[in-house]
Amino acid sequence: MRIIVVGCGYVGLVSGACFAELGNDVVCVDTNPARIAALNGGDCPIYEPGLERLIACNRQAGRLAFAEALPFLGNDVDLVMIAVGTPPARTGGADLSSVFAVAEAIAARAHERVVVVTKSTVPAGTGDAIERLIAAARPDLDLSVASNPEFLREGSALADFLRPDRVVIGTQDARARNALMRLYRPLTDAGVPLLSTTRTAAEITKYAANAFLALKITFINEIADLCEAAAADVRDVARGIGLDRRIGEDFLRAGPGYGGSCFPKDTSALAATARELGMSLRLVEEAILVNEERKYAMGHRVIDAMGGDVGGKTVAVLGLTFKPDTDDMRDSPALALISVLQQAGAFVRVYDPQGMDNAAEFLAGVAFARDGYDCVAGAHCAVLATEWAELRQLDLSRIAASLAVPVFVDLRNAFDPAALADAGLMASGIGYPMASLIASRKRLELGRPRKARPAPVPAPAEADGNRLRHPHHATLQ
Ligand code: UDX
Repeated sequence: MRIIVVGCGYVGLVSGACFAELGNDVVCVDTNPARIAALNGGDCPIYEPGLERLIACNRQAGRLAFAEALPFLGNDVDLVMIAVGTPPARTGGADLSSVFAVAEAIAARAHERVVVVTKSTVPAGTGDAIERLIAAARPDLDLSVASNPEFLREGSALADFLRPDRVVIGTQDARARNALMRLYRPLTDAGVPLLSTTRTAAEITKYAANAFLALKITFINEIADLCEAAAADVRDVARGIGLDRRIGEDFLRAGPGYGGSCFPKDTSALAATARELGMSLRLVEEAILVNEERKYAMGHRVIDAMGGDVGGKTVAVLGLTFKPDTDDMRDSPALALISVLQQAGAFVRVYDPQGMDNAAEFLAGVAFARDGYDCVAGAHCAVLATEWAELRQLDLSRIAASLAVPVFVDLRNAFDPAALADAGLMASGIGYPMASLIASRKRLELGRPRKARPAPVPAPAEADGNRLRHPHHATLQ
């Protein structure tokens, strides 16, 4: 099939390259000339494992090309996909200006008939608005507009695209549905379920999926707090509930709060849609607030782990991106963490395997280290903020020896607590008993000998004389 994908951002590039890989003839269009020049020069402007190679192979095979302007949409074009960004507007809703600009361009370039497919994440009713806009500009046009949301995770987008849990097609127009069913046939033939819905249901499905996952993470993060207070291990609890097939084990990793380009933006846009419709999504609204507070609470957790006073001390932050295998810094919990530490007077040194360039745009007053070991050298505390494989493989004994004070805060539960303790680190994680001992860290002298073994772990009841005290609620001194 012949497909035009408009937007060479994350979704457009991954979708375009994957559709080409499935044997289609794809042109990806973007109004940013530098981006198109880079792509035509063989560079991939985003970091996504496998994407650069997939683009190169399909360009070489003649199935994938890049262009600055939307080509003339003759009758040989089977589908035009809108895959431009829908960033947050000031209202909290989605800014649809790029989507409508593409719709206008389609109206201007279409010949006789066109099937428009929205891949961008857009609020309920946007497909209707696109249809009205194009139809008003081109009443002569034989027009079909469908929704086909994507469910791609950064870092595993190619696998998510080529082996998805489901494909959702939202349209009641037979021509659009048949074209999309044909497009996805290689996947459905391999057993991928295809769900055919109305356009609006497909639009809401995308937001509901992301909001549900964001709620799931927020829920386990709250349970992690409870586990710390009650001296239980959230990893046991997550497994205990996750094995219930109605709940499922995925997205139950407690951590510093969700970030990224989708969950924060999409939960906020979904809540805004509800408000526009005169109602309130109270669970979603609350999850947004709880998650935002949690990101900042991580900074206070680190301050507590360091004894309450970080003025003039150095904190090494390992990992900056909102999750591993991406260079994306958007809404990364590391940003809130670092801002709290800096405001408390700490000097922050950072390292990330792929996110350093992007991080430089978000961070001021930090030192950028060469690698994980360089980052922790002489610091008064190390914090694992993103669970990159490279960082999980760091030699903990070497870290302990190289820190000025062997305090380690594992915000991703990436390390085995016993391994951290064996390495001589006074460590804490998220939602397990050692974390509840952090408040008692105040009793430990900062500046103890570097090779000191961790303090013996007292029974939870002795930890601070107050088992229910929450580490990041501890007062700063
Ligand atoms: C998400 C959705 O998963 C994807 O389907 C959608 O299309 C785009 O948004 P992405 O933002 O790339 O994908 O990342 P994801 O892997 O979902 O993680 C989002 C955030 O949640 C990250 O900050 C991650 O660290 C956090 N997370 C995820 C947890 O804290 N715990 C978990 O158990 C899972």
